[in-house]
Amino acid sequence: MQIFNTIKLNKNSTQHLYIQLYNQIKNLITNGDITHHTKLPPIRKLSNLLAVNNVTVVNAYKLLQQEGYVYKKVGSGTFVEDLNTKDLQSKLINEDIRSFSEEMNEAEITKDYLNTRSINFASTAPTPDLFPVDDFKIVLNEVLDRDKGNAFVYQESEGYYPLRESIKTYIQNYGINTDIENIQIVSGAQQGIDILSKSLVEYGDIVFTESPTYPGAISAFKSRAARIIDIPIEEDGIDIKTLQNKLRSFRPKFIYLMPNFQNPTGYSYSEEKKQRLLELAEEYNTFIIEDDYLSDLSFSENVNSTLKSIDSSNRVIYIKSFSKIFMPGLRLAFMIIPKSIYNEVLSAKHTSDISTSGLIQRAFDLYLNKGKWQKHIHHMEDIYKKRFDILVESINKYMPNEISWYIPNGGLNFWLSLPEGYSANELYKLSRKKQVVFVPGSVFFTDQRDSTHFRVSIASVYSKEIPEGIKKLSTLIEVFLKEYKNKQTAMDMYTPYL
Ligand SMILES: Cc1ncc(COP(=O)(O)O)c(C=O)c1O
Repeated sequence: MQIFNTIKLNKNSTQHLYIQLYNQIKNLITNGDITHHTKLPPIRKLSNLLAVNNVTVVNAYKLLQQEGYVYKKVGSGTFVEDLNTKDLQSKLINEDIRSFSEEMNEAEITKDYLNTRSINFASTAPTPDLFPVDDFKIVLNEVLDRDKGNAFVYQESEGYYPLRESIKTYIQNYGINTDIENIQIVSGAQQGIDILSKSLVEYGDIVFTESPTYPGAISAFKSRAARIIDIPIEEDGIDIKTLQNKLRSFRPKFIYLMPNFQNPTGYSYSEEKKQRLLELAEEYNTFIIEDDYLSDLSFSENVNSTLKSIDSSNRVIYIKSFSKIFMPGLRLAFMIIPKSIYNEVLSAKHTSDISTSGLIQRAFDLYLNKGKWQKHIHHMEDIYKKRFDILVESINKYMPNEISWYIPNGGLNFWLSLPEGYSANELYKLSRKKQVVFVPGSVFFTDQRDSTHFRVSIASVYSKEIPEGIKKLSTLIEVFLKEYKNKQTAMDMYTPYL
C-alpha cells in the first residue's frame, strides 16, 4: 500500500483523474515497483487515500484490466498481471478497438489538411511541386524501352537485384557497409515496419518504443497485439537509465527508434547514446529497428551518423524511406536485415504484396545510376533549409514567450509546448477552424493521452505561407492562453483521445 502514497493526482489538469491514476499505476507496474500477482488496494481504500470518488478508481482499474496490466479474481480483488506471459486475450480485443479508433483520429487530422485550404504545418509529405517529375519521366520511358514487358513481371520478393546492388554502393556514402543479400526492398517504410512486426512479433510479445513516437509504428505493433513499453526521449536521445531498467525486467523483441531528427520531436541522439544503445542491445540480446526516414536532411555541422553505420554486431535492422525527400506515392524504401532473420522477413514481405513494383524499382535504379538522386537531394536541402530558417525566424518573432520549443539540427519537425495544464488537443480544435493545422502531441503517445505538446512541420507548407501561418497561430495561442486560464475547471470535462 505504501507505494500508492507516491501517486499524485492533479485536479486542475486537463486530463481526467482516472486517466492520471491509470498512467501512474501503469508506470509503477512497468517500472517493476509493483511486482506481478501483487494485489492492488481495494477500491474504497485507494479512493480514500487519494481523496477521489470511487468511480475514479473503478475506471482506472477497468482501463488497466483492458490494457492487460492487471487481472481480476472474482471475490478476491485486482492483481498485477505478469507482463512476460502471453495470456492477453482481453488486451488483444481491446487493442484492436483502440488502434481502429486511433486510425480514425489520425484520419480525421489527415482529412483536415488534405481537404481544406488550411496552412498545413501538419503533414510531413513534400509538396508536389518538389517532385522531380520530368527527370522521372525520362527514366520511366528509358526502362520501358529497355525492358519492355519484363518491367511488368512479378519482381523477386527481395527486390530487383540491380537496385539492391546500387543501394549497396549508395549507402557506402553513409558509412554503411552491407552485403546485397541483407538488402530487402519494400513498398515504403510503413510496409517495412509492418512486415517486421509480422515476422518478429507474436501475440503478447513486448516491444520498446521512444515516447513520443511515430503513430504508424504504434499501429503496426498493436495490430500484432504487441505490448508496447514506451520510454521517454530526451534532447540527446532515449532515456538510457529508464531503458536499462526496463531491459532488466522485460525481454523486448526489439527497440524501435529514430536516431536522427526523431518524429515528432526533432531530437537527435548523441554519439555516446548511440554507442550505449548498441551495447545494451548486445547485452540483452535484442534488436534495434532504426527508422531512418530523414537523416539526409541535416542543417548543421553536427554528426548525424546512422546507428547502422556503427553496428558491428548486427543488432540493427535498418529501414530507409525515400518518401520525405523524394516522392511518397512511389511507395519505395529498403531495409537492411541481419541474416539470422532475413528469411522470416522475406516470407512476410511475400505474404504482404509479393513484391514491390518492378517498374518503379527499375526506374529508381536508373535514377540513382544517372546521378540524378544526389542532385535532387541537394535541391530538396536548399528548399527545406529555406523553409526551416523562415519557420525559426517566424516562431522567434511571433510566438508568445509562454511557448517553449526545440530547434532541431535538421529534418522537418519542430516540437512546441504549451505551458503546463493546457491542452494541445483543444488548441488544435480551435486552430483548424482558423485554417492553420498542426498535429497535437496526443497522436504520438501510445495511450493517446492529451498533452501540452504539438508538432509543426515544414514539409507541406510553402515558404511564403510560413510567416502568415505562424502569426495566425501565435495570435490564436495568445487568446487561448488567456481564455483557457479562465476556464481551467471546465476543461476537466474534456474527453481525451483514448
Ligand atoms: C518516422 C516515419 N517512419 C516511416 C514513415 C512511413 O514512410 P513511407 O512513406 O516510406 O511508408 C513515416 C511517414 O510519415 C515516418 O514519419
